Amino acid sequence: MCGITAYCGNGFALPFLMQGLSKLEYRGYDSAGVTTIEKGALQTVKCKGRLKNLEDKLQDYKLEGHVGIGHTRWATHGIPSNLNSHPHSNDDETISLVHNGIIENYRELKDELIAKGYHFQSETDSEVVVQLLDYYYDGDLFEATKKVLKKIEGSYALCIVSVFEPEKIIVAKKDSPLIIGKADGAYVAASDIPALLAYTKDVYFLDDLEMAILQKDKIHFYTHDGKEINKELVTIPYDLEAAQKDGYDTFMLKEIYEQPHVIQETLRGRIADQKIILDELQGIDFHQYNRVYFVACGTAYHASLCGSQVLERSTKIPVIATVASEFRYSDPLIDEHTLAIFVSQSGETADTLAALRLAKEHHATTIAIANVLGSTISRDADYVLYTCAGPEIAVASTKAYTTQLVLLILLAYYVAQQLGKDVDFKTIQQLNQIPQYVENILNDHQLFEQYAKMLETLHDAYFIGRGLDYASVLEGALKLKEVSYVHADAYVAGELKHGPIALIEEGSVVIAVATQPHIAAKTISNIQETIARGARVILITTHGEEVKNVENTYYLPDVTPTLQAILVAIPLQLLAYYTACIKGCDVDKPRNLAKSVTVE
Ligand code: AGP
Ligand code: GLU
Repeated sequence: MCGITAYCGNGFALPFLMQGLSKLEYRGYDSAGVTTIEKGALQTVKCKGRLKNLEDKLQDYKLEGHVGIGHTRWATHGIPSNLNSHPHSNDDETISLVHNGIIENYRELKDELIAKGYHFQSETDSEVVVQLLDYYYDGDLFEATKKVLKKIEGSYALCIVSVFEPEKIIVAKKDSPLIIGKADGAYVAASDIPALLAYTKDVYFLDDLEMAILQKDKIHFYTHDGKEINKELVTIPYDLEAAQKDGYDTFMLKEIYEQPHVIQETLRGRIADQKIILDELQGIDFHQYNRVYFVACGTAYHASLCGSQVLERSTKIPVIATVASEFRYSDPLIDEHTLAIFVSQSGETADTLAALRLAKEHHATTIAIANVLGSTISRDADYVLYTCAGPEIAVASTKAYTTQLVLLILLAYYVAQQLGKDVDFKTIQQLNQIPQYVENILNDHQLFEQYAKMLETLHDAYFIGRGLDYASVLEGALKLKEVSYVHADAYVAGELKHGPIALIEEGSVVIAVATQPHIAAKTISNIQETIARGARVILITTHGEEVKNVENTYYLPDVTPTLQAILVAIPLQLLAYYTACIKGCDVDKPRNLAKSVTVE
């Protein structure tokens, strides 16, 4: 995701553009840029790095146009660089645009335009849109825009300016957010409300497949095929601080609720006609590997534990998941027949980076699974796949975790597909339904708020699970301890009787996960063992018979067992979140922790 701003009014555009981008940096900040229109020409200033770099660069310019667009980027295609920064313009710099989203079919469109003699400045998918506008422009920018929208596939929020129609901004939206504000002597637009509030609280929410033409004293709304429509003007009831969190109390809660959208973005373009598409891995011959390592830290390690089980089951290649701080000092067995996969949200974790470099020294093939394009780990690895979770601000990882799970499941099936193995397409098809299932679980949030009350006065909590559920309870325990400081530990359910059950006493709270049909009954037996010793149990399971004496049971929708790992994460995230809230903890910035651990 990224931040977009646009201004069309009596005043100078730049002040609005820049104050808006500063309020949207939480949406993306690897590069930034603006375009204004003055004296019939486009003035574009853009650069790599934080918004501060753009502010410094703008000191050398005098942008006094009354129409303009701005962008702070969260790169998905093309690493952060000056050339890949937005706005993008056509060759003769008569049209300029900013884009938030992913143009799924950009590759084929780019090839078509190159064959027509176009050449591209950047590696981005977004530049295809402005070149298409150039191709279709025939005296009417709105008509050209409608033709382009029929050609592109994927997600977009677009703001388009042109010297041909210098008093207008054309905007269009599909799957990425765009909000329009009615300000004093101007119409403005932005990716999110915080960017507008200094100028107006009166806004129009553009819906998918709608467009608008902004002018300084009027606005017209249309459907993508050009039919004029009316939109309701809404007054925003809250202030800037609340708006930056999109109205949520914390970034963590906002990011928990972003999961349906970002899971959809991570899936976007990666499943088609019963095949997994991971073109980023083209050129790897998976037949050469006799061992696979997953290497990561913290939450990313828990995702790796899940990914390793799915990969091994799908390919029958031995797979080991290990924490980076152990891997780097354990003299692991690595050679040219080793595939090493490094999972990291930030792409900057010191232990994971060191482990990656060790694997490369020993000639392993390395793949990074990262969320930040251009991060060190993503650049150092031989290959990289990106989750499209957007910036994760809260220290406790939530949406990065579930999008890592989605991508690792896709990777497992992709490797199996490349090896000519049978691939379980029922699971693949169900992946497309996961965003809706996650949405449905989020709608049950009050239940988990209730369950959290069981932990309000406790210092300890016990998580148990088996197989994939063990990876889930490790992550659930980490979430709870990270944000609520409850001493939460996760155990393989079958291990309880080998010692940990000595800890269970009257009133202990056990959180059990049983979603894997072949072993669920065993976990339920372990639950009964804890209840017999006075435990209060929260059980997260799939549809089945009621489990006797369990205080709270939450039934997940019935999806193939592999995908349950994604769904289970939601109740456990909410349980941790609400427990932390009850205990008055700083959910977004827990004590002693950092978002990215760039030291050993
Ligand atoms: C997760 O909630 C924690 N913030 C932490 O364990 C984190 O997952 C770990 O530091 C790894 O970070 P990375 O994914 O950026 O490499
Ligand atoms: N996909 C576009 C790019 O990589 C836009 C990314 C964004 O939404 O910031 O430049």
